[in-house]
Amino acid sequence: MLRKNHFPAAVPIASKPRGFMAGIRAMQRNALFLLPDIAFTQPIVSGHVVRRFHMVMDPPSLKRILKDKADDYPKSEEAQAMLRPALGNGLFLAEGAHWRWQRRAAMPVFAPRNLTALTPVMTEAAEDVSSRITRGSGPIDMYQEMLQTAFEVIAAVSMSQDTAIPREVAHKAIDRYLETAGKASFLDILKIPGFVPRPGRAVAHFLISDLKRAADHAVRSRMGRKPADPPPLLDLLIGASDPKTGRKMTAEELRDNLLTFLVAGHETTALALAWSIYLVGFDQSVQDRARAEAQEVLGGRAATADDVPKLGYIRQIVQEAMRLYPPVAMLSRTATAPDTLRDREVRAGDVMLLPFYALHRNECVWDNPNAFDPDRFADPKAIDRFAYLPFGAGPRVCLGMDFGLQEAVIVLATLLSRFRFTPVPGRDPDPVMILSLRPGGGVWMDVDPV
Ligand code: HEM
Repeated sequence: MLRKNHFPAAVPIASKPRGFMAGIRAMQRNALFLLPDIAFTQPIVSGHVVRRFHMVMDPPSLKRILKDKADDYPKSEEAQAMLRPALGNGLFLAEGAHWRWQRRAAMPVFAPRNLTALTPVMTEAAEDVSSRITRGSGPIDMYQEMLQTAFEVIAAVSMSQDTAIPREVAHKAIDRYLETAGKASFLDILKIPGFVPRPGRAVAHFLISDLKRAADHAVRSRMGRKPADPPPLLDLLIGASDPKTGRKMTAEELRDNLLTFLVAGHETTALALAWSIYLVGFDQSVQDRARAEAQEVLGGRAATADDVPKLGYIRQIVQEAMRLYPPVAMLSRTATAPDTLRDREVRAGDVMLLPFYALHRNECVWDNPNAFDPDRFADPKAIDRFAYLPFGAGPRVCLGMDFGLQEAVIVLATLLSRFRFTPVPGRDPDPVMILSLRPGGGVWMDVDPV
């Protein structure tokens, strides 16, 4: 059944300005409420809430901010503040020279040859989730299943079995930390004054301390030892050095980056998968076509890295899911030098909001932007590089991009070749953005073997 006239879940967009406190309260519940309706029809929306800000949905301006003039638009300290207690000065948060050398050292860790050696873990995780949902009865929340699957993958590729951080410690800590700390962060980004309470900040710090201790232990017990075979990301990072200066990471830097991989690679990939499953439930004709492809390529077995190039339509579904529901739905930067974007004057100190959710649904950029249509990605060259930014772009583009996409294709293809997903009526997810873009209420599906 193709539901051409229906659109998949979207957030209700405010067409009238809210009062200051009402706006803040709405934003803390769901940061997507920050977006006015004109963010979906115009290239740049500028305004002033405590500080001047610009919401940028214009591909050439995004190219300037993220790539051509990236040094003039660093990540803002306010945006970083809430992740700092968890990720320290690791790759995701570092700036300037300290970021540059870490990126140089970590790049080879994500080289295709290292990743290929680690992909059997993805196939195993796809088998595990298949067995779990085969055993289940009644509707299943596929978002929770995907969180568990993505955590199994990232934990197994990051650390050896003997030093693995227990799933319960890591998963719960990361999840609750991001939620509590995330609610405060938008207030900081917009420089909302301190009299507006930041609930949960102290709780968030407490939640992360166990995880940090576990990560410290993992690092200490691997340093100075022979790398495992195949080497997990932590062992590769211990052996890595800056090709320019030879500098290696200290125990603390290794800990920060191990946590960076766990946090950056866990929920994001789970979200890409969960939203993909929601969408193939929404449009059964897409699901049928994807299943035919998966069954032809896989013939009953779970997908491996070698199958990925042959699973083109499944990949298009994941790409389209990340267009409609970008797991990282907004980034922010601070302008440190004056600039002009289209007709807009940017002053040093202005807040730059890059709401990919609105970019990916902007009428100036996409035809029929709210419709689910994986065929948009049939010809990758047809998509402007800066119109589609689920992984960011420029020097700070996601380091785990190939890894995340590969994992999503392997898991989705395996599941679609074996199961039919039918949405549970009345339980559509609500897109809720608290740092990441989550399916509020879960992705509930009836799951039947095919
Ligand atoms: C579908 C999955 C993923 C999505 C949508 C995603 C998205 C992003 C985005 C948007 C950024 C840019 C942040 C910025 O410019 O401010 C980023 C950075 C990063 N991501 Fe990912 N990510 C994914 C998976 C992963 C995985 C699996 C890993 C690691 C194993 C990872 C590691 C990183 C790191 C280390 C950075 C920081 C890079 C730097 O600043 O140099 N990501 N990611």
